[in-house]
Amino acid sequence: MTSPAIEIDSLRVVRGGKEVLPGLSIGIQAGRITGLLGPSGCGKTTLMRAIVGVQIVAGGRVTVLGLPAGTRALRSRVGYVTQAPAVYDDLTVGANLRYFAKILGAASERVAAVVETVGLTGYGDKLVSQLSGGQRARVSLATALLNEPEVLVLDEPTVGLDPVLRQELWTTFHELADRGTTLLISSHVMDEAERCDELILMREGLILAHASPADVLLQANASTVEEAFLNLVGTKERAG
Ligand SMILES: Nc1ncnc2c1ncn2[C@@H]1O[C@H](COP(=O)(O)OP(=O)(O)OP(=O)(O)O)[C@@H](O)[C@H]1O
Ligand SMILES: [Mg+2]
Repeated sequence: MTSPAIEIDSLRVVRGGKEVLPGLSIGIQAGRITGLLGPSGCGKTTLMRAIVGVQIVAGGRVTVLGLPAGTRALRSRVGYVTQAPAVYDDLTVGANLRYFAKILGAASERVAAVVETVGLTGYGDKLVSQLSGGQRARVSLATALLNEPEVLVLDEPTVGLDPVLRQELWTTFHELADRGTTLLISSHVMDEAERCDELILMREGLILAHASPADVLLQANASTVEEAFLNLVGTKERAG
């Protein structure tokens, strides 16, 4: 076991008068891909926002790379890609990346490097508004890679992508993990689970399971992660 890159202790978050995370504790291993899975509204984005330090928390502690989440020193060390692509439609791919490189204080040479990493070589002069949804998502991912962050938090990065693009992105994620990046990737499609090193199954702000895909199946006596999820929900409900 490697040491955790992210440590969460009794995290409590209230949003819109509702307790979204009632007291969540978990450690996320460094240099691995952890999948955060659970149905819509269970709190995945909320948890990610707390990790990158943009969520108001009601209690508990979130530590990233040994520092409190959201600390200034973490800004260049933690990359975050939000659920909706956050790039400018009326700028080209290259202009977007040069702009974000400036803001983030990344070297301008990084622009070409990240364009290649996300498979958009040759698209630098294209307006983002003329790209497909998947290409737009990859521009968004590219902005988060500019600083070569040690921790990468990706909120549903493969939603709406075709299987080929999804495969390509997962290859990129594994390459980043192989180079030591810690990745936390959310999804509400359970079929992406097998591509992760570790899984966190979440429901209504609670953690149902946290283990490797194989161990999750074993624990839940299931043959698919979807089935594991349903079995674990059933077990919790029977236990009250
Ligand atoms: N801006 C907000 N104001 C108030 N409540 C919110 C806000 N955003 C989310 N919530 C509530 O917090 C809960 C968790 O939302 P969150 O966005 O973390 O879920 P999620 O697991 O990311 O869902 P999805 O898979 O649909 O993205 C939901 O019940 C939602 O209604
Ligand atoms: Mg979400």
